Amino acid sequence: MGLAAAVENGYDKTPHDVPRLSLASVRCPCIRTDVSYLGRIRRSVDCARLTAVSAPTEVPPIVAKALALSHRQGYLRSSRNETGRLLAALAASRNGLLAELGTGCGVGAAWLVSGKHADAQVITAELDPALATSVQKLFVDEPGVRVVSGDWTELALHAPFSLLFVDARDAKQNVDALADLMETGGMVVLDDFTPTTSWPPIFEGRVDTLREQWLTDERFTAVEVMVTDDSSVVLATRR
Ligand SMILES: C[S@@+](CC[C@H](N)C(=O)[O-])C[C@H]1O[C@@H](n2cnc3c(N)ncnc32)[C@H](O)[C@@H]1O
Repeated sequence: MGLAAAVENGYDKTPHDVPRLSLASVRCPCIRTDVSYLGRIRRSVDCARLTAVSAPTEVPPIVAKALALSHRQGYLRSSRNETGRLLAALAASRNGLLAELGTGCGVGAAWLVSGKHADAQVITAELDPALATSVQKLFVDEPGVRVVSGDWTELALHAPFSLLFVDARDAKQNVDALADLMETGGMVVLDDFTPTTSWPPIFEGRVDTLREQWLTDERFTAVEVMVTDDSSVVLATRR
């Protein structure tokens, strides 16, 4: 039984209030047994997987190539597939120039490429020259993709962007500079936050002032979106 089908009346009225759901039982895929949903879901760490998204197991060929490069390089910082699928879906909604700050082994860029329109372009910057060279080779046969070896600030020459994936730590802190890189309606995707339900957002016992700034800056309309049960992104659309 699917979760949606299993939920009885009132889910739409109390969507974030799990203990109030009047649900008899659902099949929990992670522990492979029927569990009483009401009351038990909060007690089982394993059952947190009920919140995981559904996605095909295969990835686009260009993403598979980038993942293979990550594997060969022993590179552990590549984007997760959940984030990648979000990037691809957003890329498909955009025209113009899609950019990434912090290429790594090209996984995020590959997801952007997999979703983009034929006439949209992707540009990505990587500080590590050896990585940048490897990723340039990866995309050599992909039209409309450029890998810049250098600091992310070098991409300012190519702005404005319709989509910007910010995946280099120091770049995230430059809200003013990033705001100036975006076209009106352009969307910034900031990776690698840890979900929190408090306001202001708390990370490791302190107010996460950077996330707070992104979520409240008047130049953007922003939202934090969970991509897995332990990671989130901030989507900020330039007004
Ligand atoms: C989290 S990884 C990127 C992962 C990649 N975006 C993906 O989707 O798989 C961050 C990368 O940013 C690069 N980086 C760090 N500082 C940078 C800077 N100032 N300019 C460009 N790249 C930078 C690092 O070398 C590292 O490879």
